[in-house]
Amino acid sequence: MIIAIPKERHQHEKRVAATPDTVKKLISFGFNVIVEKDAGKNSQIPDALYEEAGASIAADASSAYVNADIIFKVQRPMMNGEGDVDEMSQIKEGSILVAILDPTKSPEHVQSYADKNISAFAMEFMPRITRAQSMDVLSSQSNLAGYCAVIDAAHEYGRAFPMMMTAAGTVAPAKIMIMGVGVAGLQAIATAKRLGAVVSATDVRAAAAEQVESLGGKFIMVETEESGETEGGYAREMSDDYKKRQAELIAETIKKQDIAITTALIPGRPAPILITDEMVASMKPGSIIIDLAVEAGGNCTLSQPGEIVTTDNGVIIVGHLNVPSRLATDASALYSKNLLNFITPLVNEETGDLNIDWEDEIITGTLLTKDKTIVHERLKGGN
Ligand code: NAI
Repeated sequence: MIIAIPKERHQHEKRVAATPDTVKKLISFGFNVIVEKDAGKNSQIPDALYEEAGASIAADASSAYVNADIIFKVQRPMMNGEGDVDEMSQIKEGSILVAILDPTKSPEHVQSYADKNISAFAMEFMPRITRAQSMDVLSSQSNLAGYCAVIDAAHEYGRAFPMMMTAAGTVAPAKIMIMGVGVAGLQAIATAKRLGAVVSATDVRAAAAEQVESLGGKFIMVETEESGETEGGYAREMSDDYKKRQAELIAETIKKQDIAITTALIPGRPAPILITDEMVASMKPGSIIIDLAVEAGGNCTLSQPGEIVTTDNGVIIVGHLNVPSRLATDASALYSKNLLNFITPLVNEETGDLNIDWEDEIITGTLLTKDKTIVHERLKGGN
């Protein structure tokens, strides 16, 4: 069977879906691996390293796709009219596509996978069960995003993070507040602590308190009987009363902060607004807001996707897109490993063929289309 690793073509995307290490492993399973020319370039992986690992290099997208039985990508393939290359038209009927497919944002693309009899797996739908932890692309990428957010904040901040007592005077430590302490938020806390900041954090999930405290952060939260957590461990949309009280708590806290990093997401819904115009106006000049939720609508009313905005009162609001891609080399390595870990249990060691248990929770959780039909529970309603 042939696995293709095409070049990523979406804007702001520097990652790639395989590394020389994962290519070697795939080849050891009996796959032939074809990597499109320059696919790894933006992750600092030259074609020669893929060749050394045993892959063949395809000169262009069509020669990468033409015979591929399995396609590993980071983002979904480009459709007709989206860019220079209509990747979708080049995918072979009946093949397997594994990527971050963003199906809820683009249902029409899901339909085109079905029309072409593609078995499409959306890696971001991976169930959060112990067995699937090593395949969890949201975790591997969010972790890097959380780290990067702090580094981006340090870059924009015109001051130092740690307290420094020098002969010329004392530099006060930066006060950083992290809002939303899932995977990205926890890594942001750890990174900010390592740099010497004074860190506080908030979340709607009470379970986050212990994690924040174990990293040396101070946890603050609205006192409530209302549970902020779904059975799946994600946040839920809170009541209007909760939102009002949370806004009061944040308003009181944020004006004393130098940096706010927001990561709050609610699956399937727009990101909750946590920092309003008035709250930004209450912050000191030179304060920084890093909005990691900007692609989901933003946690701050003033953040702009892909832009760094400086407000009239001198607050810098950073809305970088695709933050994991800013650390493309590490992000590609972890993402590629997630895909390798996903395919490994599906390979029949004796024949080298795929042996998929279509009833397995990992498969039903991620499979969008099969046998020309949209099969995923979360998508069936709309199509
Ligand atoms: P996420 O990316 O969906 O959201 C980020 C954070 O924002 C979450 O902690 C969420 O509670 C918080 N949030 C949402 N609305 C908020 C609001 N209005 N105010 C303040 N905070 C708000 O979350 P992520 O990183 O995907 O983690 C979700 C859960 O999954 C966590 O409990 C995490 O520990 C768990 N998890 C489990 C894994 C596993 O078992 N394999 C792997 C990774 C995460």
